[in-house]
Amino acid sequence: MKHSVAIIDSNSTHRNDVVKLLSLYYDVQDYDNEGAAFGGMRARRPDVILVGPQVGAGSGTNLIRDLRKDPGLAWIPTIYIADNEDFRTVDQLRDAGIREKLVQPYAPQTLLSLLSRQINGRVEQGWQALPGSQRKALESSLQAFNRIVEDLTRGKPLPFADVSKSCQAVVEAVQNHELGGLLDQIRRHDNVTYVHSLRFASMMSLFGSAIGLPEDQQLVLAIGGMLANVGMMTVPRPVLHKAGALSPQEWEAVRNHVQVAERILSTCDDIPKGVGLIVSHHHERLDGSGYPRGLTGKDLNQLSRMAGIIDVFCALTDHRPHKPSLSPAAALALMTEEMSAQLDVGLLAKFQAIMLEVGGFEAM
Ligand SMILES: [Fe+2]
Repeated sequence: MKHSVAIIDSNSTHRNDVVKLLSLYYDVQDYDNEGAAFGGMRARRPDVILVGPQVGAGSGTNLIRDLRKDPGLAWIPTIYIADNEDFRTVDQLRDAGIREKLVQPYAPQTLLSLLSRQINGRVEQGWQALPGSQRKALESSLQAFNRIVEDLTRGKPLPFADVSKSCQAVVEAVQNHELGGLLDQIRRHDNVTYVHSLRFASMMSLFGSAIGLPEDQQLVLAIGGMLANVGMMTVPRPVLHKAGALSPQEWEAVRNHVQVAERILSTCDDIPKGVGLIVSHHHERLDGSGYPRGLTGKDLNQLSRMAGIIDVFCALTDHRPHKPSLSPAAALALMTEEMSAQLDVGLLAKFQAIMLEVGGFEAM
């Protein structure tokens, strides 16, 4: 889902820069005065508000004070963007109701990270009210995912035990028939790779459970799904979100995520063989049209074929800011009608039957 951000600032250069940067990822509303901003934001509430130092005839800090008194808008996370370091004492910030601030000039990535933190903070707070196994699956997978990023950045091996534990929680949520709620919640999170990975893990686990595989295999499927796109972490965010066609170099960086994931897995001794196959083969197709090795049906076992189906299904149905997603029913129709040479039609028919049976098409 596409989150919404409002920027309120009289400085048109800064405002336009922010609009240009954020439009890649968010719905952006921009205002140069308080009256227009309050009217617009009451009609369409943003997820985060950015306020510059000067807003129309008044100051940004006064506007934030007014925001805090508005029952419809007071709860929205607000970031003050100061134009110099003068505005910096803790007391001044607190008195104006400001909890987050940024000082110009700032790196685009700093603003993007701050926005994601604000959006995800609220999303994750909402998980507290969920049934036990949904909450456990979401919280433990997010923890594992953050730990993966942290450990890999520091040159440590993949924290496989954490990943395995979080996938056990995903398998439990599937067994408790709580997958619909889980997938509905995950869509609201603002970390594309995490969202995609948890969807992949969940769908793999559902697939395995529905065709009667034993629990240890369901866990292998979930772990493989969670780690299949771990290599995407090295792809720059603007490329992940790019609306138009990728350049050859960008496409190469995306395709390379499989080999990056293989290298990451090789840092760890206790990865089950099935997990490695899912990660290596999830973009391979039966007719040899896949990547990175152009393998064909004889090289792809059941786990690899299941991964291929879920990879296509998730890619077609994922909610990305830059592209319209297909409904699950439309995705399955396309896969059945146009991809019978690439995907295992027997397994695809089973997956289609599972999706009809769970009936939670909207949440998927
Ligand atoms: Fe992938």
